[in-house]
Amino acid sequence: MISLDYNNMLSTRLGGRGIDPARLEAMAGRFRDAHADTASRRDSGEMGFFALGDGGETVSEIQRFAEGAGQAFSNLVVLGIGGSALGTTALRTALLHPLWNELDDEAREFFPRLHVLDNVDPATFSAFLDHVDLRRTLFNVVSKSGGTAETMSQYLIIRERLQAELGDGYRRHLLFTTDPEKGVLRALAREEEIATLPVPSNVGGRFSVLSAVGLLPAAMAGIDVAALLEGAREMAKRCESDDLRTNPAGMFAALQYLAATEYAAPIHVMMPYSDRLRDVADWFRQLWAESLGKQNTRDGSEVFAGPTPVKSLGATDQHSQVQLYMEGPFDKTITFLAERDFEKDVQIPSAYPHHAELAYLGGHSMGELLRTEMLATEAALAQRGRMNMTIEVPRVDAHAIGGLFMMLQIATVYAGHFYGVDPLDQPGVELGKQLTYGIMGRPGFEEQRAEWESRAAKDDAFVLR
Ligand code: PA5
Repeated sequence: MISLDYNNMLSTRLGGRGIDPARLEAMAGRFRDAHADTASRRDSGEMGFFALGDGGETVSEIQRFAEGAGQAFSNLVVLGIGGSALGTTALRTALLHPLWNELDDEAREFFPRLHVLDNVDPATFSAFLDHVDLRRTLFNVVSKSGGTAETMSQYLIIRERLQAELGDGYRRHLLFTTDPEKGVLRALAREEEIATLPVPSNVGGRFSVLSAVGLLPAAMAGIDVAALLEGAREMAKRCESDDLRTNPAGMFAALQYLAATEYAAPIHVMMPYSDRLRDVADWFRQLWAESLGKQNTRDGSEVFAGPTPVKSLGATDQHSQVQLYMEGPFDKTITFLAERDFEKDVQIPSAYPHHAELAYLGGHSMGELLRTEMLATEAALAQRGRMNMTIEVPRVDAHAIGGLFMMLQIATVYAGHFYGVDPLDQPGVELGKQLTYGIMGRPGFEEQRAEWESRAAKDDAFVLR
């Protein structure tokens, strides 16, 4: 079972710094309101992600597609960005062999390699195109809105290449995951008879990992989708409690909210001590930032709210960030992500008994070392009065990852309630999308861009050459 140990968030452990347990106790009532509000938004159909663990017809459709297509392709390439990419990357890192894309077909049991292209850097994209065998590749274009500039430009390039190489057969190398009704991708699928999977209309991008967005790539790569969903379902059930002390998502949200708003700690570091959980922290970074970073509350007052999520990795970042966490400003909370048992461990040989600096390592394992480093960092931070907590999974498997995704998504909507903002929208991102569209799509774009590019148009006093 996923656990949340928050002892080190409390002033009783931190020598007076940290959250006063009485303040946390006082959040119980507010949490009941947050829980009731969330339940009513969920029941009214606004928060479709809650039900994703229940599976249903779409999951059978995904499984059917994956079984049909899976072994026919050596490569599955996801074209998407933000919520349409980060969850799939997290799934890949957590649940596939660490060197999956380098393994040969047999070692991958003929499941495809899984690539996620989530940027429009021409150097990366063209290198990838030079390298990939289009005839052995399925491109999964993932866009809820169906109109995101980065994803659509990738698609246009790929479509042209596929047509040039495969003629009319290009269609069989495309799969669109998009809104069931709206958006240009849906229209194109109809016009060109391209296979599609739906992202439920009430599931937003960053809450969509357990929809076809993440499940199709997972199923095609042989990940146990049923276990993923079961873990999510069990967590959703666990979070039906309106008692703060038994609801892990509620407790996580309440602690982070209190830390940010009453204890001057708005920087929320997530630090897995596990390479496999590394990209869960990256996925969470988007979820927390885009959901809670808002100019206005739901009732329209200006707040400029939002904690700043930071991702970090143990033990690597002990040699990069921990000095700051230990001795810098008291403006952070650190959430450790831990796996209780490593699936594989590596023994460290005993050698150099006469060198005490090395001899102490012998007879231990790498897993032991990593875990000890995490426990030591937790204790050291606590000793210095630094708020930290630990989310632990028994082991990194599909069941645990499904639970973790669901827990952090539910925590995000509770936190939205505490801040008074709508965690489901992203007006700031939409504005950027509209500006790009407006600028690139209108006559005079070249002149406008030339003016921006022109250094002369800017004040030369503020340019170092
Ligand atoms: O969470 C969100 O809504 C965003 O991060 C989107 O996932 C991202 O902008 C990509 O949008 P789309 O899936 O519509 O292409």
